Amino acid sequence: MEARIREGWGTRIGFILAAVGSAVGLGNMWRFPYATADRGGAAFVLLYLLMVFIVGVPVMLAEFSVGRRARLSPIGALRAVAGPRWAALGYVYVATGFLILAYYSVIAGWTMRYTLEALLSGFSASPSEYFEHSATGIGALMYHVVFMGVTISIVVGGVKGGIERASLVLMPLLFFLIVGLAIWAAFQPGAGEGYQFYLRPEPGKLLSADTLSGAAGQAFFSLSLGMGAMLTYASYLGRDENLPGSAATVSVSDFAVAFFAGLVVFPVIFAFGLHGEISASSVGTLFISLPAAFLKMGAAGRLVGLVFFVALLVGALTSAISLLEVVTSSLIDNWKLDRARAALGSGIAIMLIGVPCAYSLDVLGLYDKIAGEFLLVVGAFVLAVLVGWRIPDPLGEVRKGFASERLLKGWLWVIRVVVPIILAVVIYQVGKAAVELVRATLS
Ligand code: PHE
Repeated sequence: MEARIREGWGTRIGFILAAVGSAVGLGNMWRFPYATADRGGAAFVLLYLLMVFIVGVPVMLAEFSVGRRARLSPIGALRAVAGPRWAALGYVYVATGFLILAYYSVIAGWTMRYTLEALLSGFSASPSEYFEHSATGIGALMYHVVFMGVTISIVVGGVKGGIERASLVLMPLLFFLIVGLAIWAAFQPGAGEGYQFYLRPEPGKLLSADTLSGAAGQAFFSLSLGMGAMLTYASYLGRDENLPGSAATVSVSDFAVAFFAGLVVFPVIFAFGLHGEISASSVGTLFISLPAAFLKMGAAGRLVGLVFFVALLVGALTSAISLLEVVTSSLIDNWKLDRARAALGSGIAIMLIGVPCAYSLDVLGLYDKIAGEFLLVVGAFVLAVLVGWRIPDPLGEVRKGFASERLLKGWLWVIRVVVPIILAVVIYQVGKAAVELVRATLS
């Protein structure tokens, strides 16, 4: 039988930018600002920062280590490093990827529509009505289908020719746009108030379990952890790659983009006295209050709005690519499909599963709660236990790149003890909220 040659990244920077591309997306520029507004501003930002570095970076390293060690996508990789029963976790990962991309693509579709709107006609004069009629229905469905089509076409191109090539162009563009926007926002009258809400924590809020679990959930979603995306990307790496360095670079970049997005969103919202709207937070927040602000700025607002939605769209696309790649590479590794068929087949299936989200914001919210919050945290919890306690020689794969043996052992201790404890609290909180939401939606 002819052995398959596994695809791989062309360059180190190609891998880093693809992983940053996976991480940076709607999570940073859409979910982060509204989660921050929803949970009281700066206290949330601080806890989020802590979660990214205490829990996120170590878990990302654990995912990298499993992927590179096995050089397989999640199902095969978990089976190879931990035994046949653990393949089940791989199936959960693939299912999570399916569900997340299904609704993610609907939101990305809105982004596409807003980008075109800014370009062609300017933002609508009544943003909330516009959102209401465009977020669901046949229009939303069409944009969802188009967005999935673009995602599929890039994944069909392969790891180096599709994903890496797209990331090398798109990610520098995104950084450039978002930094430019943040600089511009600093000069808006009233920006100071926005910064204050965003950056000055009220001590009381720091200790709430709800804020903590919100921050942890946001960290996993934003860093693309807990569903095998980082594992899959690392499976295309060579043995000489420095994994700890990569995990740190990707996480810092992801945090930076979220942070900059906040530096854009809050000054703009406060400058136009729209704070009331953003605190009545929902999935639509950004799509209503930002266009409202852009509208008030006239022609300049249209241009700035265009730049913002282009950046958001770029981020969404590179993240969607990684979600589809998890499913595609599993089909290639486990069912021996060729790449084009795997990407097309799974892409179409995901598109169909997303149809209900294009027709109901409640269903969309439900997918987000279950897959985007709950399953990710569970997926990361089980992975930490597996890497910490189950696989032989967990340190070997990640040794290269740690400055000292103590730091290396410190990582293992965090994965064995700290991460499972924090995540157990989060799973309880998020699980409770998810059950409530399912009940409310069904009744
Ligand atoms: N990290 C992406 C974002 O912030 C979303 C994502 C989650 C991508 C899980 C892949 C896996 O938008």
